[in-house]
Amino acid sequence: MNRREVVQKFLLGGTVLVLAPSILQSCSKDSAMNPGTNTGGTPPAGSSINLDLSLSENSALTAKGSSKIVQNILLINTGTNIVALSSICTHQGCTVGYNPSRGDIECPCHGSVFSTSGSVLNGPATSPLRSYSVAETGNVLTIML
Ligand code: FES
Repeated sequence: MNRREVVQKFLLGGTVLVLAPSILQSCSKDSAMNPGTNTGGTPPAGSSINLDLSLSENSALTAKGSSKIVQNILLINTGTNIVALSSICTHQGCTVGYNPSRGDIECPCHGSVFSTSGSVLNGPATSPLRSYSVAETGNVLTIML
């Protein structure tokens, strides 16, 4: 192996080393762009979520007909209480939303409709939304997972 061959092999190896991090980085960027993934995800079972209703970002939840999604949990003020349901449609995993004028929960992907107790009112979903118990102590709402 002459000097020229050694330099060429060295440069080729260096190119691979320089490109490797950018290839790996682009792979990690692609996987981070998974559509439909709700940031934060649902906390593990047995944990809880506390929401201070006196904070401006949560205060809208004190009004009848209001709703908010927190960590894949859909919170709805039905007027008589606040219910907590999974915001992930049981059909194919789209994010559902509350329709205050109809008083139901609708999936924008294929039209499934759920009641505020989570039961299926209209398919194609066949399984109910998971529901969570909610306790209200003063201004703090606690959702038990
Ligand atoms: S994902 Fe909700 S109806 Fe299909």
